Amino acid sequence: MALHVSPKWLAVEPTHGTQTRPRSAVRVRCTAQSSSAPATSPSYEEGELERPRWAGETPLSRIVAAIIEFKPLYSILKFGARQVFISTAQKKEIPWVEMRKQIMSSDVYKEKAAVEDPSLVYPDYYLKPFHAYDEGNLSWLAAAEAEPATMSMALRAIPEASSAEEANSVMRGNWLDAIKRHHLQFAKGCEIKDILDIGCSIGISTTFLVEKYPSAKVTGLDLSPYFLAVAQYKETRRPPRKNPIRWVHANGESTGLSSASFDLVSLAYVIHECPQRATINLVKEAFRLLRPGGMIAITDNSPKSKKLQDLSPVLFTLMKSTEPFLDEYYTLNLEETMRRVGFVNVQSLLTDPRHRTVTGTVLLS
Ligand SMILES: C[S@@+](CC[C@H](N)C(=O)[O-])C[C@H]1O[C@@H](n2cnc3c(N)ncnc32)[C@H](O)[C@@H]1O
Repeated sequence: MALHVSPKWLAVEPTHGTQTRPRSAVRVRCTAQSSSAPATSPSYEEGELERPRWAGETPLSRIVAAIIEFKPLYSILKFGARQVFISTAQKKEIPWVEMRKQIMSSDVYKEKAAVEDPSLVYPDYYLKPFHAYDEGNLSWLAAAEAEPATMSMALRAIPEASSAEEANSVMRGNWLDAIKRHHLQFAKGCEIKDILDIGCSIGISTTFLVEKYPSAKVTGLDLSPYFLAVAQYKETRRPPRKNPIRWVHANGESTGLSSASFDLVSLAYVIHECPQRATINLVKEAFRLLRPGGMIAITDNSPKSKKLQDLSPVLFTLMKSTEPFLDEYYTLNLEETMRRVGFVNVQSLLTDPRHRTVTGTVLLS
């Protein structure tokens, strides 16, 4: 990969922000683990700005917002964005249409009743059109296209890769290495036994976590029962696992799961899809769910990415037409939010040319 500059670990001194629950009552002792840290941290190029010029309250951003607000133009943009997604993927040998057909013509529909919580109340932002789907993530079409869409995203991040699979494994490998490095540095030997993947979608990030931590119990949680049905369906098509993945249909802002019951909470490519208030709630909920010494790992678009800062106006207009919360995402200081919630050892690393992985720990008492 050609994009190497100096390492971008942004270590931040532990601070003690407003914790959402007292931790002093829980005492944990951990024993040393034998695993070693990944040899090197990747380094990718940052832009000169704190965030892309088109994010937040800028004249450019206001023009884009006005275009998107104008419904007839929005419909054209939305249609255009969808065509661009599909044709770009097909050109890069991601068989989008075939992959969609395979899911849509399968038995996946039978899985929905088993994973769905019919009493779940969806947050308002989740009921809006999204990613060029009128029903957002609450549809079979979105669920059937989630895998090719993820593969395209990986190839955009690692365009030098020879295939989408290779791009995905580089992107996910760097993310997992950042988690491992943070864990070895700060967890003082606490083992990762229970993992929660919030916003697991159709289970791609969950599967990477399971394969990296085969002895852990892994839970994938998502708001879309359609995505969870695909995740479960894919699991039924492979040999049974020693620790089967548990799928939970819930809001990551308020999961209903027990406090201090996880060692790692992951949010992979979730928060750019959420308004700021939801992101803050997701971070608070992760803090509540983690044991002392446990860690959060949030991977998503990096505001400092040179690639994203250099995007053309046409591309960012298309992007914004399908991602309604990008302005809120880029203007939230995520690291500061995590510290305020109570996380310590907050670190941020560009783990590929477009994405950062931000990690933090719950203080080990
Ligand atoms: C881009 S997908 C994540 C992909 C997946 N983690 C991966 O890395 O392949 C974002 C997911 O977040 C989910 N999501 C958004 N808001 C959520 C919330 N408040 N609680 C749970 N899931 C949420 C969406 O349903 C969607 O499946």
